[in-house]
Amino acid sequence: MYRQISPSSTLLLNEQSSALEKEGRQVFRFGFGQSPFPISAVLKAALIEHAHRKEYTQVQGLEALRTKVAEYHSAFEKRPICAEQIFIAPGSKALLYTIMCAYTHAAVLIPAPAWVSYAPQAELIGHATYMLQTNFAQRYRITPDILEKSLAEASQHYQSLLVVLNSPGNPDGLCYTQSELQALTVVLEKYQAMVISDEIYAPLQHDNQHVSIAKYYPKGTFVTSGLSKWAGAGGWRLGIAILPDECASQLKDAMLGIASETYSCASSPIQHAAITAYSDNVMMLQYVKDQRTILSALGKYIHKAVINAGLNAHAPEGGFYLLLDFSAYRQALKDIGLATDIAVCKKVLEDVGVALLPGVSFGLPPEALCARLAYVDFDGRQALEDIRLSDWSDTLTVKHAKKMSEGIESLGRYLKQLT
Ligand SMILES: Cc1ncc(COP(=O)(O)O)c(C=O)c1O
Repeated sequence: MYRQISPSSTLLLNEQSSALEKEGRQVFRFGFGQSPFPISAVLKAALIEHAHRKEYTQVQGLEALRTKVAEYHSAFEKRPICAEQIFIAPGSKALLYTIMCAYTHAAVLIPAPAWVSYAPQAELIGHATYMLQTNFAQRYRITPDILEKSLAEASQHYQSLLVVLNSPGNPDGLCYTQSELQALTVVLEKYQAMVISDEIYAPLQHDNQHVSIAKYYPKGTFVTSGLSKWAGAGGWRLGIAILPDECASQLKDAMLGIASETYSCASSPIQHAAITAYSDNVMMLQYVKDQRTILSALGKYIHKAVINAGLNAHAPEGGFYLLLDFSAYRQALKDIGLATDIAVCKKVLEDVGVALLPGVSFGLPPEALCARLAYVDFDGRQALEDIRLSDWSDTLTVKHAKKMSEGIESLGRYLKQLT
């Protein structure tokens, strides 16, 4: 007997898109959420300098790196964080798993839409998962009322309660506001629930005004992040977690035990190079700022194109995603036999070459007819060169969004002729 766990749907979509391209078809790649930007030159140089490092490091991560990460996040989140609270691992995915795994028989509460891996990880560990539905009108944010109701129910059966929050969010590109986080904190404290706050897109919040729930709930929050998004280094596999203030020593020991029995430590050369990423390096700071400028401009532009195509979506506030809502075309789609998001995504990939990930992958009901669009189908290297030569302008937005707007326009024409 084998476990019932299927490969991540993002990777599968990538394979389907490649197969179509091999047939000579044009594919608008909105499905795969990988950073379009190259690794910064300073970070690359740091890795070359440390290529000879071959030793295993401390399980928790190199002390020099943890110190830098603590300094970086203390400034970024505007709260004191020490190196002892920092945990380094091969990717934040490994850390999310390690944190969840440190608890026995927990209830994991996941507001949907949610990133694809939270629920499968919780299920692999054997935790109970509670998907908490949100909707377009609530900007896909969890409300204190729904949270309260779900925690009240889960607390009857489980002692450990873990709530996963993600801001800026994948798949919706939306952020929690300060007051929303404060209101959620009141409920979390009431139930003594822990939060795993996935903030991997935080440095790419377009207006650079990220707020972490850890600011209001430091004793109950794990923050996860890493180099995959803002440093464009997904394949480097470097994730960080910030443990809660006053973290119980048994909890930390459990995490150290799980880490040492599974991945041992993050790669040593990568950890040494990451010290540069977390140092106040002028070039790194400019590189991240430029990404924010580019992503913000493209996000607004793509959002307008989506609205012109007759679809609904909230304008993205961080990262590089927005969540499309096809419900304006519900009847027309139903008339051609498309009643679920999977059926719609399959059809638009076949007929228009537009690759989107269905909302069901993110825990939404299939009949909500939502799909994630990642606006990363542009030349990130060229965009960074262009912004260095002159200030970012509308002309540059149009240039870099060209292929993506063609894709969205084709999608709009296709949908409109159905009505
Ligand atoms: C919301 C979110 N969290 C976590 C991850 C995993 O990141 P890492 O590469 O650090 O494992 C991703 C990657 O796509 C993500 O989108």
